[in-house]
Amino acid sequence: MTDSHANLTSIWQTSSNLPTYEPLQKDIHVDVAIVGGGITGITTAYLLTQAGKKVAIIEADRICNGTTGHTTAKITAQHGPIYHELLSHLGQEKAKQYFKAQDAALTFIRDTVKKEGIECDFSDEDNYLYATSHHSEHRLEREYEAYQQLDIPGEWVTSLPINITIRAGLKLPGQAQFHPLQYLAHLCKKMTQQGAQIYEQTVCERVEHGNTPAVVAKNGARISASAIVSATHFPFVDGGGLYMSRLRADRSYVISGTSPDSWPGGMYLSIERQPRSVRSATINGETHLVINGESHKAGQGMDARKHYDALHQFADTTFSNFKTEQEWTAQDLITLDDIPYVGQLSSMQSHVYVATGYRKWGMTGGTMAAQLLTDLIVDGNSLYSDLFKPMRFHTDPSIRHFLNENMNVAKHLISGKLEHVAEQVDELSPGQGTVIKHNGKRAGAFRDDSGDLHLVDTTCTHMGCEVNWNHGDSTWDCPCHGSRFSYKGEVIEGPAKKPLKTLK
Ligand SMILES: Cc1cc2nc3c(=O)[nH]c(=O)nc-3n(C[C@H](O)[C@H](O)[C@H](O)COP(=O)(O)OP(=O)(O)OC[C@H]3O[C@@H](n4cnc5c(N)ncnc54)[C@H](O)[C@@H]3O)c2cc1C
Ligand code: FES
Repeated sequence: MTDSHANLTSIWQTSSNLPTYEPLQKDIHVDVAIVGGGITGITTAYLLTQAGKKVAIIEADRICNGTTGHTTAKITAQHGPIYHELLSHLGQEKAKQYFKAQDAALTFIRDTVKKEGIECDFSDEDNYLYATSHHSEHRLEREYEAYQQLDIPGEWVTSLPINITIRAGLKLPGQAQFHPLQYLAHLCKKMTQQGAQIYEQTVCERVEHGNTPAVVAKNGARISASAIVSATHFPFVDGGGLYMSRLRADRSYVISGTSPDSWPGGMYLSIERQPRSVRSATINGETHLVINGESHKAGQGMDARKHYDALHQFADTTFSNFKTEQEWTAQDLITLDDIPYVGQLSSMQSHVYVATGYRKWGMTGGTMAAQLLTDLIVDGNSLYSDLFKPMRFHTDPSIRHFLNENMNVAKHLISGKLEHVAEQVDELSPGQGTVIKHNGKRAGAFRDDSGDLHLVDTTCTHMGCEVNWNHGDSTWDCPCHGSRFSYKGEVIEGPAKKPLKTLK
């Protein structure tokens, strides 16, 4: 893997001091090996260390350089208008459990910040869902009814503290926001003082089973452990769980900047077809706004520039004199029934655990997963294991989503091969990339700033779909499961583990 978001640095990355760690060079033995150094992996390692376990985190890149470094970091149990859906498909008990699990995660973060005295700009905030169209207002009404049935303390509002005219809003008081990397940097420092080990620039490739299972890194180093946790979005091993067919990667865009308008507090999310999310962040005493939206299936959006422009337009109409400082993009996974997969990877590999599919709610989701996995590994059970069990298959809406998802992958697999490509490589200017015909086959071409041409085979090394050029981020993106590659073909984001073939 490579420095995945080199020119897409987030506001958190430019204002945090994350410790760095050496790659793993030799075989080691621990109680629990955790693959993936985002909020899920780090919080799980922290909790297991507190419980007396010997733990190692193995991270392919730098810790927190994945989605966690590019989040908007609202900490809330109000995951969009989800409770009406949960109530209809899973019933009252499970829908209540979902809320309680997220609420417990929020409480854990709040208590940890207080107990440890972590300086991470943590603040309690009211969270608002809001509707600007008639259709969404109706959806919000149903959501409010679900809150009442589930005893969720939501309040119906008809205006917002910020300058957006709405038809209706649903406020959930007592939620929170923070600087995610300052928080996680503290957890890393604390747990390594207590004996936890963290290794960066170490890609895990497979699991060896046997008397003592082991994770094997690309460089051959082995970490034997009685339990293994995959906190890598798509699990780095599948174990017969068919995760490729049961998860999809969804991408969205973020801009941050300043406005002279005074900020009244709160966190905001519209529930229209293209949602808009807004929060503030205080960095070195200055208030910044963080605006997020423009979701699409990874590898299937418009030119990224158009997505950023749509966010700028929203910022300009909502805040006076909005001055952009940073832009970035990231993706998160969504499960078939919108509920994360957390627990044993499959019945065949019960010592391997997985935590993924937070649907862009991984601050509470990843923390909840860490609590659940710690309970499973330490005590053998958890209050929430049934709800989040990865190998469940709820009939509605899972089957419909399963079929849609796999037809979508099949469509891209086939259409990518049949596509007509005719771009001329000579016409490429520095900084431009495109798909061309090379020796009769589809290939990817990018001309760098010094005029050198980089050619790659556009066949994704994961399962063979054809990658497309992403102008905004200068990456090759796969429309099937969201793998991303640099212009040189290096893996930026999995599930692909191998680089694109380079061509002469
Ligand atoms: C634009 C955007 C905004 C969001 N906003 C919010 C929000 O406001 N509130 C909220 O709750 N959630 C939000 N989310 C979701 C949240 O950020 C994610 O759910 C969460 O960060 C996921 O954390 P993670 O630890 O599971 O994954 P990551 O942070 O991505 O960590 C996974 C790590 O695994 C590593 N890895 C992968 N494969 C391997 C391998 N083979 N070997 C070793 N390491 C490997 C990767 O390098 C990566 O560092 C948002 C998401 C997006 C995309
Ligand atoms: S084929 Fe799966 S990510 Fe490309």
